[in-house]
Amino acid sequence: MSIRIMGTGSALPGRRVENREIVELVDTSDEWIRERTGIGSRHVSTGETVAALAADACGQALADAGRQAEEVELLLVATCSPEDVAPCMACQVQSRIGAGNAVAFDLNAACAGFLFALHTAWAYVEAGIYRNALIAGSEVLSKLVDWEDRGTCILFGDGAGAVYVEKCETGGILSFVQHADGSRGAVLAGGSRPLENPWAGQRDFQKFLRMDGREVFAFALRQVPLNVEEALGKAHLTVGDVELFVLHQANRRIIEGISKRLGADISLFPMNLDQVGNTSSAAIPLLLDQLNRKGKLRRGMRLVLSGFGAGLTCGACVMEW
Ligand code: ACO
Repeated sequence: MSIRIMGTGSALPGRRVENREIVELVDTSDEWIRERTGIGSRHVSTGETVAALAADACGQALADAGRQAEEVELLLVATCSPEDVAPCMACQVQSRIGAGNAVAFDLNAACAGFLFALHTAWAYVEAGIYRNALIAGSEVLSKLVDWEDRGTCILFGDGAGAVYVEKCETGGILSFVQHADGSRGAVLAGGSRPLENPWAGQRDFQKFLRMDGREVFAFALRQVPLNVEEALGKAHLTVGDVELFVLHQANRRIIEGISKRLGADISLFPMNLDQVGNTSSAAIPLLLDQLNRKGKLRRGMRLVLSGFGAGLTCGACVMEW
């Protein structure tokens, strides 16, 4: 028994920000950003929220699957940039789309969040607790980005992606691996809330994301191929059996390096980061939805999904579409 993706959806804020607009903010250039990251533009919220983007993507995923919101049993939102602590984003999405019969909660594993949420849904279904799930990755990272820090503000974008999954007897998700290394959390950290109470006094807090880009780069290049090999081994498959690698969209050079290390042709690694940048937990479902809508995914096709991010966290999943 496993789960199969039955429908996909995605949503992007209306405002698209080109590299040349970033050049007006920090000391960088369109050429540097394109050459070092592959990013040409990203979408930035001018009011769209994590919950609104997720609800839009979820509605589309349900419509794509031909299912009604009332049928959903589990609703998960992966995010590291919620506007509110309470109610959680998943409960806000539940209310917006009318999924009144679902249990709903959020999950944060940064850029690996969608994969961790997919794994969570798989575990619930495997345990016989629920039969289906609606899973979104949604981010408005632009509120955590320091728009004066050229090391980070060139990279991130806002958006959401979602999938609707159902229990299946054959095919679907074949294997999962996930890992976390909290001892290396400082490599990519921030988004703190100040401790404000009558007894605490003034304390420092890190509002914006800070990143050691080189460390994250090296981590991804080392860890993603290992995770992919590990997940393929669990499914008794090899790199040669994979028809598409849908990876976290952080940097074109990272994806090219992973393709070399795996010995898989770069044409098997679809990318959309030139248009949307790094949308963290939204990146994988957003790309899946774009591929799905372009007719690039056919039933039975073998896919590998893999992501990495703050935590540090990483994981991979092998599936038959
Ligand atoms: N424009 C121009 N120059 C820049 C910029 C910029 N935007 N940013 C850095 N530089 C300079 C640096 O100051 C440095 O100059 P120096 O040699 O005089 O010191 C030079 O360019 C090279 O800097 P590096 O940091 O070595 O540049 P690199 O090629 O590694 O690219 C980047 C930096 C794009 C951040 C890269 O390291 C990267 O993509 N890392 C991975 C980031 C990532 O994936 N993060 C997301 C994780 S997901 C999550 O959980 C949110």
